[in-house]
Amino acid sequence: MLSVSGARLHARIAALARFGALPGGGVTRMCWSPAHEDARAWLLGELKTAGLAPWMDAAGNVFGGLGMTAIDARRPAVLTGSHIDTVPEGGILDGALGVLAGLECLQTIAEAGAAPARPLAVVAWSDEEGRYGSLFGSRAFCGRLDASAIPAMAAVDGERLVDAMQRAGFDAHRAPEARAPAGSVAAYVELHIEQGARLEESGVPIGVVDTIVGVRRARVVFLGQADHAGTTPMDRRRDAFLAAADYALKARELVVTRGGARAVTNFGVVHVHPGASNIVPGRAELVHEMRDPDPEVLERLARDCATLAEDVARSRAIGVEIRPMSATLPAPCAPRVQAAIEAACGDLGLGWQRLYSAAGHDAQNLATITDAGMLFVPSRGGRSHRVDEASDAAAIERGANVLLHTLLRLAA
Ligand code: HGY
Ligand code: MN
Ligand code: MN
Repeated sequence: MLSVSGARLHARIAALARFGALPGGGVTRMCWSPAHEDARAWLLGELKTAGLAPWMDAAGNVFGGLGMTAIDARRPAVLTGSHIDTVPEGGILDGALGVLAGLECLQTIAEAGAAPARPLAVVAWSDEEGRYGSLFGSRAFCGRLDASAIPAMAAVDGERLVDAMQRAGFDAHRAPEARAPAGSVAAYVELHIEQGARLEESGVPIGVVDTIVGVRRARVVFLGQADHAGTTPMDRRRDAFLAAADYALKARELVVTRGGARAVTNFGVVHVHPGASNIVPGRAELVHEMRDPDPEVLERLARDCATLAEDVARSRAIGVEIRPMSATLPAPCAPRVQAAIEAACGDLGLGWQRLYSAAGHDAQNLATITDAGMLFVPSRGGRSHRVDEASDAAAIERGANVLLHTLLRLAA
């Protein structure tokens, strides 16, 4: 039975991990950054060495084709892939595993001289982590990128997408040209680490994803009054940070008590202005993120939190502005792809369990244009988005082999 080269896969994972490597382990390799562009050049070289046809589209997505040199509606392709960009101080597997396992599978198929009926390609999607806007590359590919929004797209630190892409040699305004022609993708399957602890705790080697969560992000800006931190009496202060802190604690409570078992929320970015220890904060900005696999729950929580923000602001004589940033749709995975993954597990004698993805992924965009699905391998201790993210070598190889046989089934 065809199987991947584990040694070659692990060697490529280690090689990619060098780009943006941190002294204590882990990586920082945000999209369009010099480390990311060096990784892109390395990947293009690896695709060539593997005998695949490498190309890029206007959104910076990197493709390696087997039996194809471009996306073509006359020959619908089976795609696999993930992303090589990372969060700051992230792990070496989030995204990288899906791209490099996909490359390994296509190289294995090419070396075996197997000629599947459909063409195949592995893809590294641009900015999956959404530093400049969620799931950017796959959004452009699936025709969901609003061209008029591009000039204003920026990271939370203010760096504009147009500038970051220009430095990397891309014209952001042309990204919508990456849109794939209707009917050009026959199926999409993505291998990813679970980034949670459910598989490890249940002792099941493979996760078959049935739904991917929707993720909503909004800036919540509290506007108070800067004042002298020493001379202003405590009962006369209009402290924007305290309003933001009050809101954050109450919003967490609201999501936990009224969101149901699968709703989660996070405040990962906090800006206080002017930001000096001897000034009462006049302005405090939070990036508020919420997730749930059910779109109705997400909608309701967003409305309830907006009401909460107004109530907190009013009770503190503070102003508040809510500025939506992004909202991805929860995505059901295609039964046909789930079945192919489960059959591949059967071929390999591996146990599997269905589970929803509590992380967002490019597959949720692909699900809007084709049959899309995902398979997970366990994360050690459920750790991810942290430098000690890890999965067992055997688990990585199992995942790659299930991906290989899933691709062979989907491309037959
Ligand atoms: O944030 C996420 O869910 C994914 O890791 N980008
Ligand atoms: Mn991630
Ligand atoms: Mn990821």
